[in-house]
Amino acid sequence: MVDQSTVDGQDTMIKVENISAAYHETLVIDGISFQVKDGEFLGIIGPNGAGKTTLLKVMTWVKHPLSGKVMLDGKDISQLSRKEIAQIIAVVAQSTFVPPLFAVEDVVSMGRYAHQKSRWTMTKEDIEAVEQAMERTNTTKFCNRLIGELSGGERQEVIIARALAQKPKILILDEPTANLDIKHQMRILGLTRELVKEQGITAIMVIHDLNLAARFCDRLILLYNKKIYAEGRIEDVITPENLKATYEVEAVVENNALIDSLQVVVLN
Ligand SMILES: Nc1ncnc2c1ncn2[C@@H]1O[C@H](COP(=O)(O)OP(=O)(O)OP(=O)(O)O)[C@@H](O)[C@H]1O
Ligand SMILES: [Mg+2]
Repeated sequence: MVDQSTVDGQDTMIKVENISAAYHETLVIDGISFQVKDGEFLGIIGPNGAGKTTLLKVMTWVKHPLSGKVMLDGKDISQLSRKEIAQIIAVVAQSTFVPPLFAVEDVVSMGRYAHQKSRWTMTKEDIEAVEQAMERTNTTKFCNRLIGELSGGERQEVIIARALAQKPKILILDEPTANLDIKHQMRILGLTRELVKEQGITAIMVIHDLNLAARFCDRLILLYNKKIYAEGRIEDVITPENLKATYEVEAVVENNALIDSLQVVVLN
């Protein structure tokens, strides 16, 4: 039998099989299945309340599903310890609480937890990973500041540095650019794309800005009413018909030649 995980010569990094999830018996995800290939940048879009964050929580086993299975790099996530999961996946959550009196460098160092044998000592490898993550995210200049003293955008870059210090195979981001100005939005998404292209990281990102989703992601999933409404290439998912059906807006979708990417103009 052909192993479906390697059909295209590209391994499957995440396989979500028939996942359903509920809060207090209210179903919010209904039988969702999809796969993400190694080294792919998948975008998840969809209206507020569609179930996007819940789906990410199931994919990181923070929330257990009612039914279905999640396979990470060929392993059943339900059989992995938290530390083993953290060796594979790093998460940049929709809102991350970090005690405000931690120094930035300490917050980034927390990303090394998954790899540490002893809780108290940082190895040379740990220190290098923290330094690299801070350089990559332009946060070295904040290293001795307190996290509570940073602006929302600066803080978000530190949270991303912490995720990179973890050296994950999979990076999961839930609206990573929500509070960022346009320069920082481009910087964070450009960095994520570079990590995917240069280091072969697999990225899965929930994002509301459809223009940014179109510009940076390889493939999209449109979630609507607990299910996948559309999935595939950008131009097959971001269509006026799909936007009308799921977001209830009239929109024009055109290719912008300047950036060679689809751009959406909402009419009403
Ligand atoms: N902890 C919770 N307890 C009860 N219901 C919840 C909880 N978290 C989410 N929900 C409900 O589950 C549904 C899906 O929520 P979810 O946060 O996954 O949506 P989302 O697509 O991420 O939305 P948004 O774009 O607003 O972030 C919503 O109806 C929400 O009210
Ligand atoms: Mg959400």
